[in-house]
Amino acid sequence: MYPTSLRTLLDEATRCLAAVSDTPRLDAEVLLAAALQRPRSYLFTWPERVPEPAQAARFAAWLERRRQGEPIAYLLGQREFWSLELRVTPDTLIPRPETELLVELALDRLPADQALTVADLGTGSGAIALALARERPRARLIATDRSAAALAVARDNAQRLGMAQIEFRQGDWCAALAGERCALIAANPPYLAAADPHAQRGDLRFEPRQALVAGPDGLEALRVIIATAPDVLTSGGWLLLEHGYDQGEAVPALLRERGFVAVGQHRDGAGLSRVSSGRWSA
Ligand SMILES: C[S@@+](CC[C@H](N)C(=O)[O-])C[C@H]1O[C@@H](n2cnc3c(N)ncnc32)[C@H](O)[C@@H]1O
Repeated sequence: MYPTSLRTLLDEATRCLAAVSDTPRLDAEVLLAAALQRPRSYLFTWPERVPEPAQAARFAAWLERRRQGEPIAYLLGQREFWSLELRVTPDTLIPRPETELLVELALDRLPADQALTVADLGTGSGAIALALARERPRARLIATDRSAAALAVARDNAQRLGMAQIEFRQGDWCAALAGERCALIAANPPYLAAADPHAQRGDLRFEPRQALVAGPDGLEALRVIIATAPDVLTSGGWLLLEHGYDQGEAVPALLRERGFVAVGQHRDGAGLSRVSSGRWSA
């Protein structure tokens, strides 16, 4: 492709990605801007510029990997969540914008002036814990994951963003919180059924299976968390769970069955069922 202007590179890359991406132009712009180490606006300000050979080579390599389906976030090693620039690797789920609903619902339940204990179970890149720590600097946050590799990325993100109030623990769901009493537990656990074909499509093919899949019906992790959360919640403490759009009846039912009160069901901007909440009142 070298030597070619930015405009031509973008047009060719957009055509090249059209068959594999829903957003080929945007993907091409993001990758080209990153290869040049410039903001995207640079591409429109200087469309006739020709990139350096090393920049063109970096772009060509990323373009080919994107053509093979690799997510942009893994190619660039970063993804923005809650206005925080997070490092992500193939050991972590790529944080999704939908998960910001879980953060908003948690913030609604966390007064800013109290030093409460709050947990993020299955923290992955640390997205939820970091967003809560940013908004509630007085809270004591515990972020857990079963994956040591994911926790290493989350720790690194916390360090880079200067969030020293987060404690990281490796372990299985609520077992990692033994001895604690949390005012709020938030979790975005795996919730796809083992045979769900979505796990074999798009970005999901490249994400860790243990971050996506939870048993034959997708509810395995949610069941364990709901069953054990009362052991580590304060009386009046909240459990907030992200889940699949088609689990908006099953998850509230599990919460009620376990004895949670004030059970609620929350939809995202697209009207899809996303989060269920319940209060433990012992
Ligand atoms: C859907 S990802 C969510 C990651 C992150 N919270 C986010 O929203 O971007 C689920 C996470 O749960 C972790 N996980 C899976 N099984 C677990 C278990 N038994 N105990 C703790 N964490 C687990 C995975 O390693 C993964 O990081």
